[in-house]
Amino acid sequence: MKVTVFGSGYVGLVTGVCLAEVGNDVVCVDIDQQKIDNLNNGVIPIYEPGLDALVKDNQKSGRLQFTTDAKQAVEHGVFHFIAVGTPPDEDGSADLQYVLAVAETIATYMSDYKVVIDKSTVPVGTADKVKEKIIQTLKSRKVNHEFDVVSNPEFLKEGAAIDDFMKPDRIVIGADNPRTIELLKALYAPFNRSHERIIAMDIRSAELTKYAANAMLATKISFMNELSNLAELLGADIEKVRNGIGSDSRIGYSFIYPGCGYGGSCFPKDVQALEKTAEQVGYKAELLQAVENVNHRQKLVLLNKINKHYNGDIKGKTFALWGLAFKPKTDDMREAPSRVILESLIESGARVQAFDPEAMEEAERIYGSKAGLKLVGSVDESLENADALVVVTEWKTFWSPDFDSLKTKLKDAVIFDGRNLYQPNILEEKGIAYYAIGRGRSA
Ligand SMILES: NC(=O)c1ccc[n+]([C@@H]2O[C@H](COP(=O)([O-])OP(=O)(O)OC[C@H]3O[C@@H](n4cnc5c(N)ncnc54)[C@H](O)[C@@H]3O)[C@@H](O)[C@H]2O)c1
Repeated sequence: MKVTVFGSGYVGLVTGVCLAEVGNDVVCVDIDQQKIDNLNNGVIPIYEPGLDALVKDNQKSGRLQFTTDAKQAVEHGVFHFIAVGTPPDEDGSADLQYVLAVAETIATYMSDYKVVIDKSTVPVGTADKVKEKIIQTLKSRKVNHEFDVVSNPEFLKEGAAIDDFMKPDRIVIGADNPRTIELLKALYAPFNRSHERIIAMDIRSAELTKYAANAMLATKISFMNELSNLAELLGADIEKVRNGIGSDSRIGYSFIYPGCGYGGSCFPKDVQALEKTAEQVGYKAELLQAVENVNHRQKLVLLNKINKHYNGDIKGKTFALWGLAFKPKTDDMREAPSRVILESLIESGARVQAFDPEAMEEAERIYGSKAGLKLVGSVDESLENADALVVVTEWKTFWSPDFDSLKTKLKDAVIFDGRNLYQPNILEEKGIAYYAIGRGRSA
């Protein structure tokens, strides 16, 4: 099938390459010339396990092309995926300018029937706006072509994106006529073999489903973070509590890890955007506000522990910081807790020596040569002349450090752990001061 994907970021690139891998003829179009040039020269803009090889294989086979030529891209596809960003507007609602710009582009060049598929995370009612934009643009061209607009939100996780796309838990299709559902079913057939994964519904419900999923996951995290702070005050260990409640199949173990807050390109903006959507229809989404507030506060928890340990005086101290990406297996630093932590440490007069297995280039792009920040190439380098260690992202490589060597390297033999990676009793035995999240009074 002929597929065009607008946007070659996380979602567009993964969608394009996976659809090409199963035999479709895919053109990915982006407005970022540098990104497209890089992709055409074999440089993949993001780190995502398995993506690099898959892109190159499919480029070689001729099934996957990258371009900035929107006209050629529109002429190519019957299916047109919109997979561009929907960043927060000034007031927190989703900024739809990129989505609507794509709708206009499609309508500007289309000359026959198209299926326009909203894959970006967009507020309820966006498909209507996309439809209206296409109608108006076709009108101004004085032409009349048939088209359908479908909502097909994406649920992939960064770090496991290829797998998630190839073997999705569900494929949500929101459409207002059976013809489009059948077309999408045919396109997704290769990903729907072992059992029925397609959940068809009306467009508005599909749009809301994506926000509901992210808001639920963010709620689980904030709930656990709230309890971790309480556990600390009560002298309980949140890790024991986590096991205690996770074993209940109604609750489950996933997304109940306490930590130093959630980040990334989705949860923060999607919770906020859903809150705004609620506001626009006159509803106060109190739970969502609380989820967001708890998360903001949680990003400061490690800083509070650091300040308490040093009696508020961290000027001149050097902190080794492990983990910049908002979670492991990605180089994405959007809304990452690491950013709040390192910026605040530096603002207070401390120095930070930061290392991440995959996000160093991204950190360089964001911070360049920021005073007080040294971006280093290894765990060892981060520890050189450091006073203390701060662990922010739970990359596997940080899980079992040589604590004896750490103790000799750190001037103050203290670890602030935002992901509860270590055993408090082992560190106590080693004579290392250890601050974690929600692990009793000493935490
Ligand atoms: N990143 C994720 O894990 C994830 C998961 C599910 C859903 N989503 C949603 O998918 C959407 C895209 O997210 P992303 O992380 O892939 O974004 P991204 O920022 O990585 O990529 C967006 C791309 O769109 C391009 N673009 C902007 N305007 C364009 C236009 N008019 N024509 C063609 N390309 C254009 C940009 O240059 C950029 O390369 C968002 O709505 C996001 O919320 C993201």
